[in-house]
Amino acid sequence: MLLEVAGLSSDYGPVHAIHQADLQVHTGELAAIVGGNGAGKTTLLHTLSGLHPSSGGRIRFAGLDITRWPTHRIVAAGICQVPEGRQVFAPLSVEDNLRLGAYRIRDHGWVQRELEHVYTLFPILAERRRQLAGTLSGGQQQMLAIGRALLGRPRLLLLDEPSMGLAPLLVEEIFRVIVELNSQGVTILLVEQNARAALTIANRGYILETGRIVKTAPAAELLADDAVRRAYLGY
Ligand SMILES: Nc1ncnc2c1ncn2[C@@H]1O[C@H](COP(=O)(O)OP(=O)(O)O)[C@@H](O)[C@H]1O
Ligand SMILES: [Mg+2]
Repeated sequence: MLLEVAGLSSDYGPVHAIHQADLQVHTGELAAIVGGNGAGKTTLLHTLSGLHPSSGGRIRFAGLDITRWPTHRIVAAGICQVPEGRQVFAPLSVEDNLRLGAYRIRDHGWVQRELEHVYTLFPILAERRRQLAGTLSGGQQQMLAIGRALLGRPRLLLLDEPSMGLAPLLVEEIFRVIVELNSQGVTILLVEQNARAALTIANRGYILETGRIVKTAPAAELLADDAVRRAYLGY
């Protein structure tokens, strides 16, 4: 078990954003948490990354209790987050954005190889490596944000709504790369409003409703579940 979350709660003052969430991600797995706008997806990821404090429960990662660790230690342990809305550094070049992802890695040979790996995954980024990130399309910025996280050498990659605001063809392309990365051995926890796309590629799915995980099952089972289909898949 790579990530084991038990009874996790997280609040904003009096607002309970996450309420006693349990979830597990096995090494090598692609897990998806799906839920509507405001369900608590971003808060959950921020709590795992130490960007938002938990108010109860436990987070274990790779056998360590990281519950109260500061973010920089959590990142160093191998949890890398791709933030909602990409948040690339607009005035910097594509390559400088990627290199920033490797800020704590001293093995320059590894960084060079990983840069080439990212350029292989996303050839458009190779073409535009000297271009300013702010001039990229939304889809290209999403690719850049994923690439930047990969340069942090993640053992667990957290993806916050990578499909947001993208045209269907681009969503397909981004999700194809997510599957490829997972098949290359990267363990992934994906959160998405786009439940159908996420559950189609995931091994295991969790349904998050107003801060509570209300259902968990193999993703294929959730896709076939009538109640899930009516509530989240729109057919
Ligand atoms: N900074 C904040 N202060 C107060 N409430 C917040 C803040 N951020 C999010 N919330 C609330 O927490 C809940 C979960 O939000 P969020 O985690 O952003 O959901 P999601 O990512 O699923 O859209 C929502 O009710 C939202 O209004
Ligand atoms: Mg969000």
